[in-house]
Amino acid sequence: MSSDNRIIIFDTTLRDGEQALPQSLSARQKLQIALALEELGVDVLEAGFPISSKGDFESVSQIAATLKKTIPCGLSRCVAKDIEAAGEALRVAERFRIHTFIATSTIHVRDKLRKSFDDIVEMAKASVKLARNYTDDVEFSCEDAGRTPIDELCRMVEAAIDAGATTINIPDTVGYTLPTEFGGIITNIFNRVPNIDKAVLSVHCHNDLGMATANSLTAVQMGARQIECCMNGLGERAGNTSLEEVAAALNVRNGYFEGLKTGIVMKNIARTSSLVAKICHEPVPPHKAIVGSNAFAHSSGIHQDGVLKNRQTYEILTPESVGFKGNNMRMTARSGRHMIRTCLQNLGYTEKDYDLDDIYARFLKLADKKGQVFDYDLESLVFFTKQGENDDDTYRLDRLNVMSGSGDMTATATVRLQVGKRTRTDSSIGNGPVDAVYNCITRLTGVRCKLTSFEITANGAGMDALGQVNITVDYDGRVFHGMGLSTDVIESAALALLHAINNIERTKRIQELREPPKKVDDLVAEHQA
Ligand code: KIV
Ligand code: ZN
Repeated sequence: MSSDNRIIIFDTTLRDGEQALPQSLSARQKLQIALALEELGVDVLEAGFPISSKGDFESVSQIAATLKKTIPCGLSRCVAKDIEAAGEALRVAERFRIHTFIATSTIHVRDKLRKSFDDIVEMAKASVKLARNYTDDVEFSCEDAGRTPIDELCRMVEAAIDAGATTINIPDTVGYTLPTEFGGIITNIFNRVPNIDKAVLSVHCHNDLGMATANSLTAVQMGARQIECCMNGLGERAGNTSLEEVAAALNVRNGYFEGLKTGIVMKNIARTSSLVAKICHEPVPPHKAIVGSNAFAHSSGIHQDGVLKNRQTYEILTPESVGFKGNNMRMTARSGRHMIRTCLQNLGYTEKDYDLDDIYARFLKLADKKGQVFDYDLESLVFFTKQGENDDDTYRLDRLNVMSGSGDMTATATVRLQVGKRTRTDSSIGNGPVDAVYNCITRLTGVRCKLTSFEITANGAGMDALGQVNITVDYDGRVFHGMGLSTDVIESAALALLHAINNIERTKRIQELREPPKKVDDLVAEHQA
């Protein structure tokens, strides 16, 4: 068992992660991700598989030339031309790693490689030696180690270390093992390989049975000191060990892991996750641990009451600690009075301003209708009880006409809005049809808000499905939501923005009624004081 307590984070988002994407990334996109991963504190970054294409070769080379702290790495099979390509691509870096691998399980050796085990041991030894001509930092992986007979696995590990490998990686390539089993493999390697102290032991787990994080963490308890992982758990099939999960587990349960540490800057996790999701077009599922939009949300009344009294009742790590900002309390029909009172208090209302029983009853009705209720909805409930007003949208979509097309055709939108008894019409251009519509609505309403999220989903099935657009916008530091539903997704987008703007307008009216506009004399006196 190793005594060193530093866990090396080896990120393979750009290799194992990228190879599983439906489309490949451009060199520029890969560089953007590589820089974000370096800022996140990744120790080793597997930038690609240089022999696989000219594009991959150049991108590995560009990343290797750019990284300053993180060690760049390139993958190669146990084939001379692969290793040479990796060495050539990486040599621009001061320090770099070559990662070479060969399958060791009986099924892979017999049916995929069609060789004997003796043959592959020789291939591994020759490849490690060749890689050592380029760098002192050579990693060797036994592909499908999780299903490799332990005697053969130990034999291969010993041979690779003898040949000069400085890191030995034990992949559970098909995500087959269970934590105690995988931990047992690691223990066996430590007990049975005589030269194991000459290399760092690494693990690379896939998530086919949902065990990748558990297997990796069990392995470090057994002495492994490198974890291979991907941001957001990307990777072949069900993905690789998720970087944010192992980093958070080692951080939150540091006592349990007896002081094992990574170099990950926890506060950068949220933004790196969202950058990777955006660039890879792989949205993070809402319930994804650590980085999902629901990972820190509290919805039930019992939970919200607990969190308002002491956050630790239901939070084992804070959203702020991984870089999320903002309020994570979801107001839904399951929220209790404590939540409603606290939200109104944060908006500046005291219990003298409203009747909690009445507000709560009306809040429940609204939540049943709407699902999630926002703070401005709650404010209008308080306000409009007193004023006796009800729903009053400032703007309604009267007509929409959009022209767009491929090539260099500029998208143009003409929008007519109903504003009270009058109409307003204008036209705008944009980068695309939605942009043109949004520019036009912004000009017509004069409400300049920042679009912070835009989601489009099919409501229903098949060709008749309705396109639902949900957006959030930032206006004056406050979040407003808008939803639009239509058979035409451009119209859905227009309706969603108008919905958000109507919410903003209602909130502005409430603000004015709470603080009546000052008289000119008062403003002058205030200015002179
Ligand atoms: O899953 C795997 O075995 C791999 C190797 C190339 C390390 O990705
Ligand atoms: Zn893999």
